Amino acid sequence: MSDILGYKGKNVVITGAASGMGQAAAQLLVDIGAQVYALDIAEITVPMAQRIRVDMKDQASLDAALAALPATVHSLFNCAGVPNPPFSAADAVMINFAGLRYLTENLIPRIPTGGAIVSIASTAGMGWKPNLARVREFLALDNHLETAAQWLQAHGKSVPDGYGFSKQCIIVYTMTQARELAQRGIRINCIAPSPTDSGFMKKLTGEGQIPAEAVALFLPSNGRYAVGADMAGPLVLLNSALAGFISGNNVPVDFGYCAEVMMGQRDDLLGVAT
Ligand SMILES: NC(=O)c1ccc[n+]([C@@H]2O[C@H](COP(=O)([O-])OP(=O)(O)OC[C@H]3O[C@@H](n4cnc5c(N)ncnc54)[C@H](O)[C@@H]3O)[C@@H](O)[C@H]2O)c1
Repeated sequence: MSDILGYKGKNVVITGAASGMGQAAAQLLVDIGAQVYALDIAEITVPMAQRIRVDMKDQASLDAALAALPATVHSLFNCAGVPNPPFSAADAVMINFAGLRYLTENLIPRIPTGGAIVSIASTAGMGWKPNLARVREFLALDNHLETAAQWLQAHGKSVPDGYGFSKQCIIVYTMTQARELAQRGIRINCIAPSPTDSGFMKKLTGEGQIPAEAVALFLPSNGRYAVGADMAGPLVLLNSALAGFISGNNVPVDFGYCAEVMMGQRDDLLGVAT
């Protein structure tokens, strides 16, 4: 089999592999010959090199996972995430960003030149510019989950949209880290998916009581929800050898939704064009 994407025999770590986009990406990575180490709080069904139970908001759980992971990691996929509601704003930030940052920064020393990191942000995080000072304040904290939790407790009122804030943090973090990682020949990117049919969406529109009509406002003009595989392809591509000169980008994977907003063809409900 040709290995144009460069994953054959490479050690890949992926979070959120039990469901949705992460599951689809994990399956694709297994299919193209990667050694996949998957982390999730739920049971992972895709057969792979190793499946590890982890709670992204629990530092001890992340430390145990780090101890079990290989000494060399070529590629990291940060896919785990939860909606707020039904999760609290603080839990959304802890799981979606604080845990992601903790895992990422503890794995970076194991990533060799040519390695890559990709995370899942969201269209909901694209209005980061007006909130940059707040995001930078959070990013300036030390990389311990307890510190992040304490900050959220003290500043909770200024972070009413925990989900949007967690995704703003991923986007700003990705762009901020690109410089230092480039000096080591490592790339970092994230994607901003439009609404996707997954466990996340069921939680958001079911338990969370966000009406499906409200979510539909953010669908692309093709009128459809994405599925996990629609995001798995771009994720795998961005960490692949084919994307070897792409770093520091937040890539909308939304069938043109953000383009329409930026061209003034539809309302800017999320501050995408700010
Ligand atoms: N579905 C959407 O419309 C949408 C849109 C934009 C961004 N996203 C983001 O995409 C990513 C993937 O979500 P999805 O849509 O595939 O949903 P999903 O619920 O199918 O997958 C999320 C995965 O994260 C895992 N997870 C949740 N909490 C965890 C924790 N504390 N520790 C470890 N693992 C945990 C879940 O078990 C699940 O396997 C998330 O980061 C989400 O924020 C989703």
